Amino acid sequence: MGKDVIVALDFDSKEKTLGFLDQFEEEKPFVKIGMELYYAEGPAIVREIKARGHKIFLDLKLHDIPNTVKKAMAVLSGLDVDMTNLHAAGTSAMMKAAVEGLTRPDGTRPLLIAVTQLTSTDQAALTNELLIEQAMPFVVMKYAENAARSGLDGVVCSPLEAGTVHAACGKSFLTVTPGVRFADGEAGDQKRVMTPAQAREIGSDYIVVGRPITQAPDPVAAYRRCVREFVDGKGEAV
Ligand code: C5P
Repeated sequence: MGKDVIVALDFDSKEKTLGFLDQFEEEKPFVKIGMELYYAEGPAIVREIKARGHKIFLDLKLHDIPNTVKKAMAVLSGLDVDMTNLHAAGTSAMMKAAVEGLTRPDGTRPLLIAVTQLTSTDQAALTNELLIEQAMPFVVMKYAENAARSGLDGVVCSPLEAGTVHAACGKSFLTVTPGVRFADGEAGDQKRVMTPAQAREIGSDYIVVGRPITQAPDPVAAYRRCVREFVDGKGEAV
């Protein structure tokens, strides 16, 4: 599996999204469509971006009873996305049903990635609200193992957790990591960040990058810089 940079299309309309993508003339970046854009524009935006030649990670984080998730995944698979996700908290029964729903009659399916614990959930919330007494790194590792045993392809995790996940679930189990910032960039609301070069070093398979590319004065140059550092391993040369 090759490494790739996934650009988070965190826009609220089709016009802004396509206006952003129009700037890319040579490359067709792998893109992430999240809840905001999907709920605003529906499946048509997925079809339109796919028709432009982009790979798509549809980030809808499904979490429901197994039968409902299975049926919803079958619909997403029909949209021809390349990667989608769910909450591992839905249990192994739900994750296995999701794999079944995603699998097309010819046996192919999009990559399926689990969210272990949201990075917005801290240890206090885990203990006091979710009533899980174990430490966060242990919980993340156990949920990743459940996902691997249920037939999923990987997890979304912070770059700091990628090494632990690979150690527990094997090198081929994918780690998709947000929270990436350039060494000379703004962290914004992300608390634990890594540069694309550092994410490469610790073994992330995909980095998800939003604002450092979408809000850059020259988004195409920022995207190329991410690819150089993360995919090509060319350090931080500009
Ligand atoms: O703009 P920025 O690079 O922070 O965007 C990161 C993207 O990754 C956003 O779409 C955000 O929702 C997503 N994400 C994240 N942290 C997670 C899971 C997803 O930042 N734990």
